[in-house]
Amino acid sequence: MRTIIRNGRIITASDDYSADIYIEGEKIHTIGTNLNMVADKEIDAHGLLVMPGGIDPHVHLDMPFMGTYSSDNYETGTRAALHGGTTMVIDFVLQTQGKSLQSALDEWKGRSNGNAVGDYSFHMAVTDFNESTKKEIAQIILEEGITSFKTFMAYKGALMIDDRQMIGLMQEVKKHGGLINVHATNGDMIDYLIAKHRSEGKLSPLYHYLSQPEVTEAEASGRFADMADYTGCRGYIVHLTCEGALNAVRNSTKRNQHVHVETCIQYLLLDASLYEQNFEGAKYVMSPPLRKEKDRETLWAGIKQGLVNVVATDHCPFMWEQKLMGKDDFSKIPNGHPAIEHRMELLFSEGVNKGRISLNKFVEVASTNAAMIFGMFPAKGTIAVGSDADILIFDPNEKHTISASSHHMNVDYSAYEGMELIGKVKTVLLRGQVAIEGGECKLEKGYGRFVKRKTTSSGDRVIG
Ligand code: URP
Ligand code: ZN
Ligand code: ZN
Repeated sequence: MRTIIRNGRIITASDDYSADIYIEGEKIHTIGTNLNMVADKEIDAHGLLVMPGGIDPHVHLDMPFMGTYSSDNYETGTRAALHGGTTMVIDFVLQTQGKSLQSALDEWKGRSNGNAVGDYSFHMAVTDFNESTKKEIAQIILEEGITSFKTFMAYKGALMIDDRQMIGLMQEVKKHGGLINVHATNGDMIDYLIAKHRSEGKLSPLYHYLSQPEVTEAEASGRFADMADYTGCRGYIVHLTCEGALNAVRNSTKRNQHVHVETCIQYLLLDASLYEQNFEGAKYVMSPPLRKEKDRETLWAGIKQGLVNVVATDHCPFMWEQKLMGKDDFSKIPNGHPAIEHRMELLFSEGVNKGRISLNKFVEVASTNAAMIFGMFPAKGTIAVGSDADILIFDPNEKHTISASSHHMNVDYSAYEGMELIGKVKTVLLRGQVAIEGGECKLEKGYGRFVKRKTTSSGDRVIG
């Protein structure tokens, strides 16, 4: 298949120019003006932005969690992602405590193989680090191409590891060139506050928020940065939400340390006032919770300062009926929120369109930095000769409204219902094939490919 995209305005993390792109097979073959190549398909991108496909490095598809499963599977989740311009996602394999990493990986392969529409990879979540887990690390990195390991400093009794395990894991991962992702909140403090609120009969979704105050995240983020500095292991804090946590990362820069930071679109756009409604607040029960206005401002500033490197989603959708599992007790509400489809459009409309970030910054935090940090650049995350033809063609002026009645995620509500956006996905290509055109998905399940990743020293090249 040969495709030409003509007359688009090409935006990468560093460039902004007009040209044609000629694609042969899965790769970008030539970029230039007035190309006279013959193609099977021509796309007129006049007046449109042509950008690398989005990469969302934090999603949970078909994940067993809190007594249920997240409601998007690999097919529905990656298809919804494509509708929103995201051509690749990174999901999390969760080790079961007492079992091996390999057995968890086999289970996740069983659910994902042959089902994804868009491209995907895995982080490996280590929930039980011991002598036998340690022996598996090298093989997971070198043979499976899974170069990032997730750790939880919270979810006590289920996923949390202690600092002893964290240090041991960091040393082993560093030895083999990998990276540690972390959910950085103080699990013991949160566990105490949840128990306290429950014993006082404070059971509404508001108490989910009040059980995870800012200090729990600031403390754990600082502690994680210190452990990463001590071991010399590269670190990446997922879903960072607040000023205190970002200041802990800022402090680490004073000793010339680079801790990568991800925030998620909801922490930039929504705030904790949403917990002040009755059970409706369950739609926003996620961990960490939404924060205050001052935290949103800090995160937008952090993106500009280059402290926040990635905007992801932590897409972890549950149907309303699943959320009702916690009707009488906030601690039983499955944690998570749906956003895989709208991350790029929300970030463009609220970020670029409102003058908070530049177009180049948009591409950087929505695609390029994830590719660099997680060892996929330049195959993914940019528009360059030889890169995968993962391309988003975007109308920066088209207006539209978000609604659960028109979205493609397998979830029966939208956290952004009725929100009016400026800027819309028009056409998406994944490895040279048209994935989205005219609002329809043109790819079948099974087209999505598992992406093996390189060890991540190239993450040092993160822009910003
Ligand atoms: O509420 C959340 N974030 N659910 C997914 C699991 C996690 O902590 O990322
Ligand atoms: Zn988390
Ligand atoms: Zn998550």
